[in-house]
Amino acid sequence: MPKISNLVPQPLKAPPPRPGDENGKATALDHAKEAGVTVVDWVDERTSLSGGVRWLLFRKVPKGTNWFYTLGSATMFAFLNQAVTGVFLAMYYRPDVNGGAYESVRYITNDVFLGQFVRGMHKWGASVMVVLVYLHMGRTFFFGAYKYPRELNWVIGVVLLILTMVMGFTGYLLPFDQKAYWATIVGVNINGTGPLLGPYLSDFLRGGPEFTATTLSRFYAIHMLLIPGAIIALIGAHLYLVAKLGTTAPPWLKAEEEPDLRKVTV
Ligand code: HEM
Repeated sequence: MPKISNLVPQPLKAPPPRPGDENGKATALDHAKEAGVTVVDWVDERTSLSGGVRWLLFRKVPKGTNWFYTLGSATMFAFLNQAVTGVFLAMYYRPDVNGGAYESVRYITNDVFLGQFVRGMHKWGASVMVVLVYLHMGRTFFFGAYKYPRELNWVIGVVLLILTMVMGFTGYLLPFDQKAYWATIVGVNINGTGPLLGPYLSDFLRGGPEFTATTLSRFYAIHMLLIPGAIIALIGAHLYLVAKLGTTAPPWLKAEEEPDLRKVTV
């Protein structure tokens, strides 16, 4: 039988004394030190987000986890670099086939403050992301991470790989110089040779049977809106599954043997 006094709401205990000066008064520095904690507490009290963050970030990882496991995060940071530098490039880029696109890229490279640097980060970052995504795929393949129960994450990964390649393909046209133009014609024609869907795909990419101004606008929209949106959504799903299922132990580690509970030891 619970004691009656335990059922009656008790008055709240006085909070622990806050740090302060010798008179017990909080100084400006004390307030400043607590500001971050207070903001986080304020948001958490209203959203309970900390539980989700703890679920996502604080977890046990298998024995033998090594540097190869950082390749997925490295790919993600390469993508973030593309997103951030891409926003700055989009502030100046014009998808105009009558010299405007070429001129805007020339302007970014030669005249905009740090333009050449940001363009370089975006251009080289694209290659870095492609290399990293393949290395990450290799790691998950050779560690057997595609097996049950992670098949769905492998499939999501395959779509992410294709989308990464589409980003590279659509971005290549945007400077609209001779190399970009002719390489894209070749690429679109190669797509057209695919079985059944090939001709429809190349018509879709061109925006009709001919390479026109629509083609450049279409490539730009696919490159900066459609694919990045899809990549962000799929990275979210990919990471959710990684957090839910955990990562795979390296294949050279043997599973620990279950103790034989029926064996009598004396
Ligand atoms: C934009 C591209 C991608 C990003 C940002 C990404 C990100 C990540 C991250 C952060 C992890 C957890 C850490 C790690 O194991 O490295 C992971 C795990 C995983 N990824 Fe990816 N990934 C991408 C593409 C791919 C591709 C192309 C595949 C395979 C086709 C793939 C398959 C997997 C699998 C199976 C796991 C689970 C690994 C395990 O259980 O040990 N991912 N990914």
